[in-house]
Amino acid sequence: MKTTSLFAVIAATFALESSALSEKQIDELVGRMTLEEKVGQLVQSPSSRLEGLASQESGDEGLPPEIARAVREGCVGSILGACGLKTYNAVQKLAVEQSRAGIPLMVGNDMIHGVLTQLPIPLALSCSWDDGLWFRAGDLIGRETPLKGCNWTFTPMVDISRDARWGRIAEGPGQDAYLASRMSAAMVRGIQSDKHVYPVAACLKHYLGYGAAIGGRDYNAVEMSESTLRNVYLPPFKAGVEAGALTVMPAFHSLNGVACSVNKWILEDVLRGELGFRGFTVSDYNAIGECGWENRHGMSEDGAPLAAMALDAGMCVDMMSETYEKYLKEAVEKGLVAESTLDKRVREVLRVKNALGLFETPYIDERAVRGSFDFEDHVALAREAAAKCCVLLKNENGTLPLKPGVKVALVGPGAEDLRNFMGCWVATRVENDRNGTIVEGLRADGVDFTYVSGYGFDDEPVDDGALVAAAEAADVVLALFGEHGDESGENQSRMHLELGSSQLKVLEVLKSTGKPIVALLGAGRPLVIKPLLDKADAVLNMWSPGSSGGWGVADVLTGRVAPSGRLTVDMPYATGQCPVYYNHTRTNRPHDMPTQGERWVTRYKDGPNAGLLPFGYGLTYTTFEYSGERVERRGDDLVFSCRLTNTGKAAGVETVQAYTHELVARETRPVRELRGWKRVELNPGESAAVEIAVPVAALSHYEGSKLVDASGRHHCWITRDSASGRRLDIDL
Ligand code: GLC
Repeated sequence: MKTTSLFAVIAATFALESSALSEKQIDELVGRMTLEEKVGQLVQSPSSRLEGLASQESGDEGLPPEIARAVREGCVGSILGACGLKTYNAVQKLAVEQSRAGIPLMVGNDMIHGVLTQLPIPLALSCSWDDGLWFRAGDLIGRETPLKGCNWTFTPMVDISRDARWGRIAEGPGQDAYLASRMSAAMVRGIQSDKHVYPVAACLKHYLGYGAAIGGRDYNAVEMSESTLRNVYLPPFKAGVEAGALTVMPAFHSLNGVACSVNKWILEDVLRGELGFRGFTVSDYNAIGECGWENRHGMSEDGAPLAAMALDAGMCVDMMSETYEKYLKEAVEKGLVAESTLDKRVREVLRVKNALGLFETPYIDERAVRGSFDFEDHVALAREAAAKCCVLLKNENGTLPLKPGVKVALVGPGAEDLRNFMGCWVATRVENDRNGTIVEGLRADGVDFTYVSGYGFDDEPVDDGALVAAAEAADVVLALFGEHGDESGENQSRMHLELGSSQLKVLEVLKSTGKPIVALLGAGRPLVIKPLLDKADAVLNMWSPGSSGGWGVADVLTGRVAPSGRLTVDMPYATGQCPVYYNHTRTNRPHDMPTQGERWVTRYKDGPNAGLLPFGYGLTYTTFEYSGERVERRGDDLVFSCRLTNTGKAAGVETVQAYTHELVARETRPVRELRGWKRVELNPGESAAVEIAVPVAALSHYEGSKLVDASGRHHCWITRDSASGRRLDIDL
């Protein structure tokens, strides 16, 4: 039974050329919707309620009755979960052709780093310092998302994190606001590229300050000054909004005592008022309910008052808590919240659906999706990304790259188990036979290796004999260390970041053989790896490198690709240092005395202040020399320059970084801040003049809600990482 939908009436009334609606027509559509239909647009239903739908040939016969009714009556506006293409088209048909309003659904899920292909985790991607790669990563996600029956992905996660105890550091862009902002914008543009056969909405999350959870414990409260919020945590969201992100997901936590889901200051005043965001907000899972349910935030009584509070604060779509579904109509009817506010939120949702072209093309054709990209191109991109995201942390005596013909003993857990390298958020992955494990990678690159597992990452028994035998039969040992790929991500907080006892024992056993050790570090977060740096000859941090990870990592191990990754988070010296980050502010006492013996300075009695390895750090297979470092003002820009020379025997990529420090301000300033970078590739003996121009305006910072221009003396560096370089002074 096909009804003439409200949308069809509007289209006819306005003689719409295309089905793209103007603001006026969106207003007209809202004006003709019932209260139930308006509430329905803000209700997100779980795809689990759609079970069995995929088996339906057409229409809604056999659909779970509550879904058929809800969608046909316009009581659902979006669906959570990758429900598959057949289900997507079946339920979309119900909404578009059988509901009165005829408004298409959005279907969203977490395609964080791919669907058919899994790219390295976002923290790894951030270590590429490569805007082009970030865009291509977003583009891959955008092209693959419709395959799962989705037109919306809850990506990119742009939460700054300075605390490796927080498992979600894996999903984000590291600890620096400027780098994270560039990554946020590039990924949004990739995901929402207009080159895709089916547009997909990106989602900036989790707004705002989620990575600063007290104690590094997920969901915990966040307390911070407005200055820090604006200078550190807000910029990647600002950059993503400016790049056109269509949706934003407020976070679970309370920010200075007010839950983000009902925090009108950040949702209305800042996000919409200051950043000019015109898309819609979607709550995190149950997050609206958790502001009022028993033993949760306690921000409101449950029911209609809570629904009113969330809607008024600026929350559009209720993911899973059913607060809107059950109580929002009542809240409006009782006058707890104005219907005009409801209209405003509905308009925001319709504007996004319109921007996605859903009124025009609500259905997805699998052939069209698969024809819009070459899967092998995506496999190759994932391999390239895995190589570019590796960070070489140590390489003594030229241990790496592996020499041709060398005999390798590969030891450790999961070298042939792809799951171990995928990292968090791979539930939406579509299984395929392209498995880039370490074993596959070494084989593909022609390495002569034997593999014996010998131990586990957790405290399983260590097979000393097998390890010694393998090492003695080889020229070099390639040993896996770290944590399983699924031990980071949501609610994976840890209070110990040190390597487990079995891994430390393995290191001792291998060391006793006298063979060179290459430690291959796999993890979704910075771990405490001092024993590896002390005892291994080379340490390569591969993070969770994704479904082509083994190929990409093997390309770096064999020298087919020179490592070029640079840390975007400090590696902690000890868990007790967390949160540890390079861009910390000054204190009333010196923080960088040469020895810890000084009594009255800011220090630990039992370790250094600085992390084990700093932000921006990374080695390659050659060496670079900096000379002629300068900084000067040219009009509105601060121009950093130097000469860079490849003083080694191999080609390589150096990421030249520009930092500043403002000496005097009304509020204490970070001792260094990244302002720009340039990736420079040089052959042996080659040198180049490098310039990095930074708008002086970019050095402004917030003091509370006030933007303050940079002024006075600044220390500057153009150098290889956040802990090195010759200091240059300039007065602005
Ligand atoms: C989760 C996560 C969020 C995700 C959402 C939907 O709890 O916090 O990042 O997008 O639920 O899966």
